[in-house]
Amino acid sequence: MLQKLLNDYLYLGQDDDRLALFENVYPIPRGVSYNAYLLLDEQTALLDTVDASQAPAFLDALREGLAGRPLDYVIVHHMEPDHAGTLMMTLRQYPEAKAVMTKKAQQMFAQFFDEDISARVVTAAENGTLVTGRHSFRFLTAPMVHWPEVMVSFDETDGILFSADAFGTFGSLHGALYADQLDFERDWLDDARRYHTNIVGKYGAPVQALLKKASALPIRVIAPLHGPIWRENLGVFIGKLDQWSRYEPEDNTAVIFTGSVYGHTHAAALRLAALLTDRGLRGVRVYDTSKTDLSVLVAEAFRARALVFAAATYNNGIFTPVETLLTDLAAHDLQNRVFAVIENGSWAPNSGKLMLERLNALKCMTQAGETLTLRSALKPAQETALAALADAIANALQA
Ligand code: FEO
Repeated sequence: MLQKLLNDYLYLGQDDDRLALFENVYPIPRGVSYNAYLLLDEQTALLDTVDASQAPAFLDALREGLAGRPLDYVIVHHMEPDHAGTLMMTLRQYPEAKAVMTKKAQQMFAQFFDEDISARVVTAAENGTLVTGRHSFRFLTAPMVHWPEVMVSFDETDGILFSADAFGTFGSLHGALYADQLDFERDWLDDARRYHTNIVGKYGAPVQALLKKASALPIRVIAPLHGPIWRENLGVFIGKLDQWSRYEPEDNTAVIFTGSVYGHTHAAALRLAALLTDRGLRGVRVYDTSKTDLSVLVAEAFRARALVFAAATYNNGIFTPVETLLTDLAAHDLQNRVFAVIENGSWAPNSGKLMLERLNALKCMTQAGETLTLRSALKPAQETALAALADAIANALQA
């Protein structure tokens, strides 16, 4: 799609509404955009390309955007194929174009492609600059946001931060390029959280380092590689990224994750949710981990301050979907949460002990109350213990 954008820029990004799983793992029912930008200055510069699946439309848009002008530079912020999948095709079509990329990106280029482009590479170093005429770019490395070769660039002329994967989100744009043209909080925040926490969530410290660098820049616009461009209220998304990358919960509420073979563990979780709501908690949510995509569960764990894990014992271990969730939370370095545990086991309950081991291995985790053990089903005699667990969680959230 070719759309006019800001001073001297065209948007060449492509919505992908056909892909079911981003990175072949994350469901994207609302699609995803691969953003790319074309600067028409005294010299021309293409900022990133798109996934190879979008190559025909992208290359058409590039040709149309250039309108017969040569392409002088391709600035490569990230070598992941959702952005660099069309890079070699572009360089082949525009043999005069120079590729501006970090040293690490050059190494990665050689891993993905066979062509030797070393004669046409301009190395982007930390704080390096590129002047294209009216516009001047400053390059800032952003290793591990989300790969080691990543850089962002700052158009010092117009105050635009081209932020690579940072400030990205799932969701196709369908013509609305700017966050102020849509209801981000209502319609996009959940997908933005799901994108960030699942893809970059593990890399909190690198994201913090990038935010620190960015805070020294007079940024007026943030142009990410996925999702809408920000030209108003930048603090909204900056604040979210800051929270997620510091592993600070957003909402002072509880989320209950259940792993329930026949529904008894889930029923106990629903009872706990009611008790928590009675104690003043708002927005308590219960997720059956067998039915909810893992990426949603991870994002919810990043959102809420208190996490309850209620799982059956299965093969003397943790019921598989909850075990998978715990593995993924550890992989994403989730930390700094209140947690509670409910185990179930009809003859040898063991999931509680195992869940505690997993949760205590995370950083800055605090258990609320004692592990509650169900033997097949919650019994009336256990109401007091469940209420005590609800009290402990509610008290922890008031602290
Ligand atoms: Fe959107 Fe890490 O690529």
